[in-house]
Amino acid sequence: MPTGDKNAGGRILVVDDEAIVRDVLEELLGKAGHEVDLAVSAEDALVALEKQSYHAILLDFMLPGMGGFDALSRIKATRPEQIVIIITAFGSIEHAVQAMRLGAYDYLTKPFKNEEVLLVVRNALRQQLLEEENRNLRQALRERHRFERIIGKSKPMQEMYGLVEQIAPSRSTVLIQGESGTGKELVAHAIHEKSPRVKMPFLTVNSGSMPPDLLESNLFGHVRGAFTGAVQDKRGLFEAANGGSIFFDEISTLNPEVQAKLLRVMQEKEFIPLGTVSSVKVDVRIIAATNIDLMDLVGREAFREDLYYRLNVISLRMPALRERKEDIPLLVDHFLEKYSLENQKSARRLTERALQALMDHSWPGNVRELENALERAVVLSTSGVVDLDLLPPSLLTDSASGPALYLPPDGRSLQNQVQRYERQLIVDTLRRTQGVQKRAAELLKVKPTTLNEKIKRLRIQNPA
Ligand SMILES: Nc1ncnc2c1ncn2[C@@H]1O[C@H](COP(=O)(O)OP(=O)(O)OP(=O)(O)O)[C@@H](O)[C@H]1O
Ligand SMILES: [Mg+2]
Repeated sequence: MPTGDKNAGGRILVVDDEAIVRDVLEELLGKAGHEVDLAVSAEDALVALEKQSYHAILLDFMLPGMGGFDALSRIKATRPEQIVIIITAFGSIEHAVQAMRLGAYDYLTKPFKNEEVLLVVRNALRQQLLEEENRNLRQALRERHRFERIIGKSKPMQEMYGLVEQIAPSRSTVLIQGESGTGKELVAHAIHEKSPRVKMPFLTVNSGSMPPDLLESNLFGHVRGAFTGAVQDKRGLFEAANGGSIFFDEISTLNPEVQAKLLRVMQEKEFIPLGTVSSVKVDVRIIAATNIDLMDLVGREAFREDLYYRLNVISLRMPALRERKEDIPLLVDHFLEKYSLENQKSARRLTERALQALMDHSWPGNVRELENALERAVVLSTSGVVDLDLLPPSLLTDSASGPALYLPPDGRSLQNQVQRYERQLIVDTLRRTQGVQKRAAELLKVKPTTLNEKIKRLRIQNPA
């Protein structure tokens, strides 16, 4: 672990309108091995920040022109990770408190002691270094547990990666089945990217979002005059994707005519554009995805059996998120980082209990639901840490499915588990009775005094 002295050499910007304060800090910090730049106003500091980044900024709060508050908010808006240490006059502690709320790292009150300045600066730099190391470590860990853009280290995911590696080189059709939001589209991409076709097009067809006629002409193309409105020749997706892959998203929505045509292309490797008689040869790999059981549709004669078998040459089943909960922390890390960068926030960590809530949820919407929950949390966040209050309320009272039974590898106490369940039931019931305990006790079939004791013991906040 690096020591304080070793990383004492950070670059620091001192912002103060008083020459004497600037001089003192420049000398003090310079002697301690820091590189120091000076700014006489907030405006000056913002200009300096455009040219140079600083490990820490010491910012006087009482500046002529743009005040410290404004400066701090502006700095934090574009550089959420920037360490800013506030300098306030003795006696304006409420300023300091407000500044901390805006994301200041710490504050110093004038007149300050030399050791105090050095200590605060050294701690700030050390924390920054640790956070950076931590981020790098987690990044490295994630890199080891990803496959193309797919994240996950659980056994079912590793098996899936192995299968993709194995099938990617061939030309065989792949049918990807799995619940909504499990990453079927990502896998379809990965198959293409790992295949020799990678330099050729990968086109996606969503048959559900298009009227059948339009779909047909989109897929196979037409010549001028083939139907009213066909004012010029149009190349279809099959021709455009020649040499590459076509991904049929939600293939179950394909209507019978298109099903028949698709079957023909798959069998003959050729098709006839609308309005012509001559066929066109193509070499396209077909990847299809569905989140409903195609076999079931076949049984109800809503999907052609012969097409089903043609598609299902290789079948891939995407595991639901609740079947691989050990991947949740990795995914959390990934999405927090992604949305922090996108929104210029620094919400990079979950509290223990927030993570626990995610582990307990049953995730009917799978990774997409998790991703949306985390994006929301990052956007709403005001600090580096995400706690329960930023998670979607529905997630905390997921009583329809009850708390999903997640058993970590090192076990978990039955008593705690039962208590969590008890807590959740009571919270749900109180919500339903708008906080009326007597009514809640009736619904839960316990004495009001018993319920009241439990509410106290479990520290439940009555919603009323
Ligand atoms: N293993 C994963 N790692 C990283 N991101 C993932 C993973 N799985 C899914 N996602 C993300 O979740 C979202 C949904 O994934 P995708 O669109 O591939 O799901 P899907 O199975 O096609 O869902 P649907 O059936 O609803 O179309 C996307 O934003 C995707 O990037
Ligand atoms: Mg999809």
